[in-house]
Amino acid sequence: MTPAATAADLALRPATLDDAELAADLVTEARPRDPTDPVLLRYHWEHPWDDSVWVRLIASLGGRDVGLCALNHPRDWARMPERYARLQVELLASRRSPERLDALFAAAEADAASAGALRASTWAWEDDAAKIAAAYARGFREERRERFWELDLRERREELERMSDASRRRMREQGIAVLTLDRDGDPDRYRKLWAMSNEAQDDVPTTVPHTTPPLESFVTSLRSPGLREDRIWIARAGEEVVGVSMLEYPPVRGVVQTDWTGTARRIRGRGVARALKCETLVQAIALGVDRVRTDNDSRNAPILHLNETMGYRPAGEMVQLLKELARS
Ligand SMILES: CC(C)(COP(=O)(O)OP(=O)(O)OC[C@H]1O[C@@H](n2cnc3c(N)ncnc32)[C@H](O)[C@@H]1OP(=O)(O)O)[C@@H](O)C(=O)NCCC(=O)NCCS
Repeated sequence: MTPAATAADLALRPATLDDAELAADLVTEARPRDPTDPVLLRYHWEHPWDDSVWVRLIASLGGRDVGLCALNHPRDWARMPERYARLQVELLASRRSPERLDALFAAAEADAASAGALRASTWAWEDDAAKIAAAYARGFREERRERFWELDLRERREELERMSDASRRRMREQGIAVLTLDRDGDPDRYRKLWAMSNEAQDDVPTTVPHTTPPLESFVTSLRSPGLREDRIWIARAGEEVVGVSMLEYPPVRGVVQTDWTGTARRIRGRGVARALKCETLVQAIALGVDRVRTDNDSRNAPILHLNETMGYRPAGEMVQLLKELARS
């Protein structure tokens, strides 16, 4: 594929890893209450967690970098016969215009189609009227929403500690061990955690199908500068890993947030996810963190219920927009 070299009056060039900082600034400017960490973004660019293909272009105007146009798709379409590409378009607020947003979407769509995609997905904050309008004008339509939440750890501290004590008792009574990954001596722990996470991931409601990451990419994702094995909480029932929950701590800027929570199907409804989430929160409180964030699909009933009953408050939604692409 040869990516487009221009979009409206914007020049496009392939991004390098050093552009991750610019991309983090662009995304942060678009949503200042949810700052994006440049170190974490660079790590995620360098180590795609699911081994998919990314094309990222930097848009510039008069020699100044002002935007990003990116697309992502599985390396092998056989792993996703529905052939969705994920598109991302960002532009500095001062440089935004309907024409430029339209041209960036057009460039991303053309590149996606020439890479073999049949459908495109993109995300926008619900209050980003300009981006949503640009996507609608190109034929995208809302498909689903991701709900974002914030939990005030200072306000909820006592209640969370009580919930955590009750959860610890419940885990003991069921013979389920709750510990951090660094304390697990099982030489097969990464593979077990990966297999359990894949099973849980398959149950996250989605329109764009999940693709299973290779074990190696999964392990690399755990080595992100925002994670530490003494902050990755797992649950074990005998030889099996049956649950995981972890918070990501941004090294430069941003709010501590859930990276991932999942439990094995056979153990669901027994309080394992609540127990694991409680441990991550009690640990964050001990580390002096004042609030944490999380997000989940707005139709994911069990995690919505868990977040609500733990005291998380809704903090905005992102909208997923989908479009059928013309065959190239
Ligand atoms: C979400 C998930 C982690 C919950 O794991 P779990 O071990 O069953 O969680 P718990 O047993 O601690 O708690 C589940 C709670 O949801 C409730 N629940 C389950 N199904 C529900 C439903 N359809 N509607 C409302 N509440 C529901 C349970 O009653 C329980 O509440 P309670 O503690 O008040 O009784 C698990 O379903 C999972 O792995 N799903 C796939 C991965 C995922 O969606 N991860 C989170 C978002 S990325």
